[in-house]
Amino acid sequence: MEVDVFTLFPDAFGWFERQRHVVNAVALGTRLEYLNYRNHTPLSAGQVDDTPFGGGAGMVLRVDVVEAALRARYGRDPVELRGDRRVIALTPGGRLLDDALVDELAREPALTVLSGRYEGFDQRIVEHFASDELSIGRYVLAGGEIPAMVVCDAVLRKLPGALGDERSPVEESFSSALEGAPEYPHYTRPAEYRGWRVPEVLLSGHHARIRAWRLEQSRARAEGRSLP
Ligand code: ADE
Repeated sequence: MEVDVFTLFPDAFGWFERQRHVVNAVALGTRLEYLNYRNHTPLSAGQVDDTPFGGGAGMVLRVDVVEAALRARYGRDPVELRGDRRVIALTPGGRLLDDALVDELAREPALTVLSGRYEGFDQRIVEHFASDELSIGRYVLAGGEIPAMVVCDAVLRKLPGALGDERSPVEESFSSALEGAPEYPHYTRPAEYRGWRVPEVLLSGHHARIRAWRLEQSRARAEGRSLP
């Protein structure tokens, strides 16, 4: 997979890039790059944003700046690009990211992620250059860098081998293997701590019963039921 993240703050991704699953995904062939809108701005003094028409607080990322950055990267009109490649604009009001959408994105050969800043994007960027408008939750962050990391983290860990051999993203919270429900609880040693015992079934070695117990726990969590 090829992932291009457009941002005004590529340095913000240093920590993210060192995460084990990201390192693994890259070692296995994923290409992850950060592109700074500022590097190709057609405006003087590195300008990338401007005050909103109609007044109001904050600054808005300019459509001509984003077009120049996309053209420099892909050598074509971004209006056409979005027909062939998922171009994701990160906004608080976009489609909410969930496991099904992460699975869908993880099947794409290439993603372009546009992070905003300040008051966000000039709406023409979202309307004409993006194929998707995506939100990580109904709250407003100061910029799109953390949302971009959230999207890339969730997608990259789904790629084969990213989590290492011993772990699998197949049966986990919200996956179809668990009927979209939250994952069942996990326990590890010690089997008893301050009188709190691990459920006996997990110590039984009886795989079918463990499986049934886990599914039941998962369903109960989805329905908000509590189980003994
Ligand atoms: N940019 C600012 N807040 C955001 C959010 N909640 N989701 C996606 N992008 C954002």
